[in-house]
Amino acid sequence: MTRETPSSPAPAPDVAAGPGLTRRRALCGLVVALAAPGVLAACSSDGGASAPAPPPGGTPVSSIPVGGGTVVQGPNGPVLLVQPTAGTVKAYSAVCPHQGVTVDPPVDGTITCPGHGSQFAAATGALEKGPAETGLTPVSTRVVNGAVQFA
Ligand code: FES
Repeated sequence: MTRETPSSPAPAPDVAAGPGLTRRRALCGLVVALAAPGVLAACSSDGGASAPAPPPGGTPVSSIPVGGGTVVQGPNGPVLLVQPTAGTVKAYSAVCPHQGVTVDPPVDGTITCPGHGSQFAAATGALEKGPAETGLTPVSTRVVNGAVQFA
């Protein structure tokens, strides 16, 4: 006794493409990781290598959220530009004095380091909570034509 096959069988799933695609993606990820470690480093928050360069004329004050901030590349590393109140711009090194992780822009007046939770006052950069032992280092800036430039 033989079994009849259906006249129009459903297409078999492309088993070879599924696992092959997965392997390919995994290999591509591995290649990227091995060939371009800088790409991965750019994804991390320590060292600030991923901070974008400010526009040629400086960072527009209008692009810095009031009560918040933005991290840009400064002359000596990442710089956190904050605007604690409208029209008042402060700049600090975004490198946490504890172990060098790039701090986050402020929320509710407080800058927090994602590394180990140190906190700093957005208005002054002063240390509010450790493990860091000092505040953020101020960075000298000036506002020219509504844009923050490094002095
Ligand atoms: S690196 Fe910022 S708290 Fe540790």
